Amino acid sequence: MGHKQEVLSSKSEVLIEKENKYGAHNYHPLPVVLERGEGVYVWDVDGKKYYDFLSAYSAVNQGHCHPKIVKAMTDQAQKLSLTSRAFYNDKLGEYEEYVTNYFGFDKVLPMNTGAEAVETALKLCRKWAYEVKGIHENLAQIIVCENNFHGRTTTIISFSNDETARKNFGPFTDGFIKIEYDNLTALEKVLESSKNIAGFLVEPIQGEAGVYVPSEGYLAKAKALCEKHNVLFIADEVQTGIARTGKLLAVHHENVQPDILILGKAISGGVYPVSAVLANNEIMNVIKPGQHGSTFGGNPVAAAVAIAALEVVKEENLAENAERLGIILRKGLNEIKERNNLITLVRGKGLLNAIVINCGEDSDLAWEICLRFRDNGLLAKPTHGNKIRLAPPLVMTEEQIQECLEIIEKSLEDFRD
Ligand SMILES: Cc1ncc(COP(=O)(O)O)c(C=O)c1O
Repeated sequence: MGHKQEVLSSKSEVLIEKENKYGAHNYHPLPVVLERGEGVYVWDVDGKKYYDFLSAYSAVNQGHCHPKIVKAMTDQAQKLSLTSRAFYNDKLGEYEEYVTNYFGFDKVLPMNTGAEAVETALKLCRKWAYEVKGIHENLAQIIVCENNFHGRTTTIISFSNDETARKNFGPFTDGFIKIEYDNLTALEKVLESSKNIAGFLVEPIQGEAGVYVPSEGYLAKAKALCEKHNVLFIADEVQTGIARTGKLLAVHHENVQPDILILGKAISGGVYPVSAVLANNEIMNVIKPGQHGSTFGGNPVAAAVAIAALEVVKEENLAENAERLGIILRKGLNEIKERNNLITLVRGKGLLNAIVINCGEDSDLAWEICLRFRDNGLLAKPTHGNKIRLAPPLVMTEEQIQECLEIIEKSLEDFRD
């Protein structure tokens, strides 16, 4: 082990220092300063080119600065950018019709960020529970999973078990029951234990936790259990959604249609914050004027961008590409694992994958490996210590995946004992 890291240019150092000095320290970025992106590539301030293997946490599924999406944004921004929802605008209805048909729901509630959309889904679920299901006021409970990641608002961290996300941010919001992920017995037990269960909020694959893929059949059986108990199945597809896992939605691998669908990130191709909550009328109609909203949610730029981003997913067959390249990537990673025992596990679906590094969660080895990936022209980041997520834009080619596998293997070689 041990091999000198590439020294950062003084230009990069100055820019990193500025962020350190003037920005809150709520992130710990890998030391690389990016200034341009195109397709699967990003370039740093010194002109060095990298493969992006994070895709802004799966927001840039369509590739960086996709020309069609950028054009939709700039055209609309020059015409009408924001009206607020005090008035109608000529783009929102068109987008609402498009997105609801695309995913097969009656209605959409537009928001901006993933966390906002999760909050929206929780409020919607509670209101449905009181007004349709008939749960007594203030008693509704929503089931969530251990090791979930749904964002960072006060309510969302209330049901997180990540101490870093929670410590000294209390008091927390009540009304959540946490069960083990991928455990149907635990789900059934809670559903049978109380008449006050309103919903089950779940990530079809736990992304932030380290790309945990649940057992086959879990989602379909969980949905069936929810139906049996008149409980809403709420799928948070902010990270897994929109072609990332090889299907339009990760729940489609098991032919599940959620009662409430939460989308964010790639619904805009990463050029603009857009998120959405979709549901059918009997659920969405509980929301009345003044009960929920956002100044920017559903603005004309967001609407134009989201239509373009969703069109690109279909026009460029991104789900099929993710499925096909995911198989090639995991096969290549498993072959590297055979040759190098630094990798203990390869897992994922489509192009949402992770390798687990042979070290403890507290070790900085995965971070060191990501620095070496960077030096060799590939950007990825550890999640939860010893896992490295590998999630490139879905516009990759097979040739590029092969080149990335070479970079990964070469980088790992440097860490052999
Ligand atoms: C599953 C899931 N839900 C919600 C969020 C929060 O999205 P945002 O960061 O846009 O608030 C994320 C972000 O990574 C996520 O992965």
